[in-house]
Amino acid sequence: MRSMPRVNHIIQHQSYEDHCRKNTQAEENRIYCRHGSDHGLTVSRIAYIFLLENLLEAGTRGSQEQTSEIDKETIYAAGLLHDIGRWVEYETQEDHALVSARIALPILRDCGFSSTEIETITLGVLEHRLPPDKTSSPLGQALSLADDWARDCKNCPSQETCYKYSKTMEEIII
Ligand SMILES: [Fe+2]
Ligand SMILES: [Fe+2]
Repeated sequence: MRSMPRVNHIIQHQSYEDHCRKNTQAEENRIYCRHGSDHGLTVSRIAYIFLLENLLEAGTRGSQEQTSEIDKETIYAAGLLHDIGRWVEYETQEDHALVSARIALPILRDCGFSSTEIETITLGVLEHRLPPDKTSSPLGQALSLADDWARDCKNCPSQETCYKYSKTMEEIII
């Protein structure tokens, strides 16, 4: 296993901790999926598996795809930060993809990500709410898919009124 010092720096970062806590507080009474640090970590892991699978499949086809430019820390950083500004949306109605990308910027700089990596990560965060086939980047597509696959819809007591729920959401993909 490769260690991820910059990702570990993110989860220790004061601003990251503050925003996670604010998300938890804002969703205390939410009956649908919540967006605490556990959600970010789950989305990171699923997005990573998805992109690895894509790479493996590209390898067996003998083609080199864009995904090879994204490394593990980039994927985890994007997953951890993609919903970090969710609490702001509850207060101001500003799209949390935009807020999260904005908030992520100084955290990523503090944690040593390069400007190219920051561009990739913030684009992924910005695109995470788009339908997967409407994203422009592999990371945005991975986050969009992972965000759905991270949910345990089959066992959710709120499925009847959830806008996200459909029968296919019960299928385990990853
Ligand atoms: Fe989100
Ligand atoms: Fe999410």
